[in-house]
Amino acid sequence: MKTNSVASAGIRSKAAALREQLNLHNHRYYVLDDPVIPDAEYDRLFRELQSLEQQYPELQTADSPTQRVGGMVLEGFQSVRHQVPMLSLDNAFDDEELVAFDSRIRDRLKYKEEIEYVCEPKLDGIAISLLYRQGVLSRGATRGDGERGEDITANVRTVASIPLRLLGAQVPSLLEVRGEIYLPHAGFKGINEAALAAGEKTFVNPRNAAAGSLRQLDSQITASRPLEMCAYSIGRIEGVDDPESHFDTLEKLRGWGFLVNSHIDVVTGATECMAYYRRLEAERDQLPYDIDGIVYKVNSLALQRRLGFVARAPRWAIARKFPAQEEMTQLLDVEFQVGRTGAVTPVAKLEPVFVGGVTVSNATLHNQDEIARLGIKIGDTVIVRRAGDVIPQIVKVVDERRPGNAQDIRFPSRCPVCGSPVERLGSDAVARCSGGMVCDAQRKEAIKHFASRKALDIEGLGDKLVEQLVDKGLVRSLDGIFHLDRAELAELERMGEKSADNLLVAIEASKSTTLPRFLFALGIREVGEATAKSLAEHFGSMENLRQADQEALQSVEDVGPVVAHFVYEFFRQSDNLTLLDALIAAGVNWPDIEIDESARPLTGEVWVLTGTLENMGRSEAKERLLSLGAKVSGSVSSNTTVVVAGSAAGSKLTKAQKLDIPVIDEQAFVARLAALEKTGTPLP
Ligand code: IVH
Repeated sequence: MKTNSVASAGIRSKAAALREQLNLHNHRYYVLDDPVIPDAEYDRLFRELQSLEQQYPELQTADSPTQRVGGMVLEGFQSVRHQVPMLSLDNAFDDEELVAFDSRIRDRLKYKEEIEYVCEPKLDGIAISLLYRQGVLSRGATRGDGERGEDITANVRTVASIPLRLLGAQVPSLLEVRGEIYLPHAGFKGINEAALAAGEKTFVNPRNAAAGSLRQLDSQITASRPLEMCAYSIGRIEGVDDPESHFDTLEKLRGWGFLVNSHIDVVTGATECMAYYRRLEAERDQLPYDIDGIVYKVNSLALQRRLGFVARAPRWAIARKFPAQEEMTQLLDVEFQVGRTGAVTPVAKLEPVFVGGVTVSNATLHNQDEIARLGIKIGDTVIVRRAGDVIPQIVKVVDERRPGNAQDIRFPSRCPVCGSPVERLGSDAVARCSGGMVCDAQRKEAIKHFASRKALDIEGLGDKLVEQLVDKGLVRSLDGIFHLDRAELAELERMGEKSADNLLVAIEASKSTTLPRFLFALGIREVGEATAKSLAEHFGSMENLRQADQEALQSVEDVGPVVAHFVYEFFRQSDNLTLLDALIAAGVNWPDIEIDESARPLTGEVWVLTGTLENMGRSEAKERLLSLGAKVSGSVSSNTTVVVAGSAAGSKLTKAQKLDIPVIDEQAFVARLAALEKTGTPLP
C-alpha cells in the first residue's frame, strides 16, 4: 500500500465527494431518521473513503466522517473560555410561579398584549457548546462553570447527530451552537446491560451515563455510546443575517443539519404555556429520552435583548420543572415475598417519599445479587427512581449518610411463609422456596394465576377471595376450586349466598376451556400466554405434549432450551401428573387442536449438519429443520436421510459417502429450506 504520496486533484475531489455524501447520509439517518441508502451501501462508501485516507493521510480532514470513530487517548482535557458565558435558568415549580414570570416580563416591557413564547422540552443531559469555523466543527466544549469549560472536541465528533460540517448553501463564517447531549433510554439500557455482563459498575441514570461517556479520555469509548445531541440556541454567529426570532434560530439550526427537538411549539401567553406543560407531562413517559421539565423562552429576540439578564440567568426564559423522578429516602426494613414459582423477592420498605408523581413506600430489591451490587444495609439513605409507570427502583446508596447502626440484610435460609428451605440452583440469580404447593404463598399465587382472565377466567375468584380460601384451608390445590362447598363459601367475608351461587356458576363454566388457556393456567415456568398457544398449536393435544422430548419441544416457535427444559420437567413430576388427572376428573375439558401436517414436511427424516455454514448459524439451521419436522442428529448412521456438508467438513462427510447417504452443500440446503418453508412441499 502506498503511503505519504501526494493525492492528485482527481483523488482529492473524489475524497471530498465521498465526505459530502457520507455526511449527508449521516444526517438523513441520525437527524432526519429517514435514510435513503441501505446500511451496507453506507459502509461501502465509508470504507472507500477510509482507504483513500490511509493512502493519502493529507486527505484526512476534520469534517471527515472517518473521524467519528474516535482516536488517540488524551492525557486530560484542556480548559476553554466561553466568550459568551453559558448561563443557567431560573426555575418555576408551579403554575403560579410561571404566571409570575410572565407578569414580570410584561411589566418590565410595559406590554399589554400577550407574549409569544417558544416551549421546549428540558432535556436531561449535558449542556454543550460547539464552535464551527467556515462551517467546519472546530471545537466542542462542556459548560463547566459557565465561564470556563473543558475541550471535548474528540468526543463530540463521535456523536452521530452532530454535523461535522454545516449543511446548506448559506453557512455562517463563525457559529457557536449550544445544545444538550443526552443518552436515549434504549442506549442507556444497552450500556448498563453490557456493564452488568462485564461485571462493571452500572450507571444510575441516563444523565450520569451521558456525562460519564463525554468525560472519557479515550474517544473510542465515547464513540461506542449512542449519544444524541439536540441544538437549542446560538452563542455567537457571524457572516450571515441574524435570525429574526428564537423559533427562526431553531429553524436555521435545523437547516444547518442539527437535530432540533420535535416537540417544540410556539404559544401565546401564560395560559397556553400551562396547557403545553400538561400536554408534554402526559407524554413524558412515552418519550424515548429523559426530560426534567419545560423551558419557556420569549420568542422575539428584540424583546430578549430588552429584557437582558440578571445574575446568571436570562430574564426572558424560565424552566418549569416536572416532579422529580429521583429522590432520597431511608431504607427502614426489608421484607421477603414469595411468588408463584417460589421466587423469594426482597422488598425494600422505605420511608414514604414523593417521586415521579406518586408516593413510594416499597421498592423491589430483585435478588441477592442486587443487594450485593448496591451494597445496601437497613438504615441506609438511598436514591429511589421512578420513571413513568415503571416500578420504583433503588439505584444507589448514599454512602456518606450511612448511620453507625446500619444493619446487614440477611437473606432467609427458610421460606418466611412455609418454613421450607430456600434454594438457589446453579447460576439462577433467584432464590426459591422449595416448598412447592406445600407453601401457602405459592399455592395462593398459583390459584390466582389459574383463575385469572387469560387463564381459566373464573369471574368472581379474585385475589382477596383466593387468600381467604387458602388461609381457611378450603382449597389446597388447583383442583380444589372445583370441589368448593356452597355453604362454606357463603360464610366467607363479603360473600353471601348470591355471590356464592354466582361463583359456582362461573367455576362450572370455566371447566370448558381451550388447550392454550389450560396450558397457560398450569403456570409452568417460562410458559406465558404466547408460548402456551404455540405449544398447543404445535402438539395439538395434551398427550402429544406430554410425550414430547426436549428436542421436539425446541422445534416449536420461540421455545428455546430453557423453556423446553421447564416444560419437559413439568411432565416428569408425579405431583403434576396427579394434578392433571384430578383436574380432568373434576370435569375440566378442552377440544384437541388439529395439526397441519403439511407444515412439517420433513417429519420422519433424520438430518445431520457438518462443517461450517457460511450464511447461517448452526443453531438457526437446526431450528429451521426441527420446525419442518425433521430430527437433527449429531452422527451419521444408516438411518440418516441427508447430510448437509458446509466448508471443511470432515469425518461425517466421509462416513456419509461410505454409507451412500445423500450429501448436499450449503447452497442447496438454503434453497431447499426456502422452498420447504414457502410451499410446505419437499423438492423431488
Ligand atoms: S436554554 C440561557 N433550552 O438546562 C438559556 N436549556 O439550567 C440556557 N437544558 O444547562 C439554556 N434543555 O443544559 C435551554 N431546551 C433547552 C434545554 C436546556 C435542557 C439544560 C441546559 C442548561 C440547563 C439550564
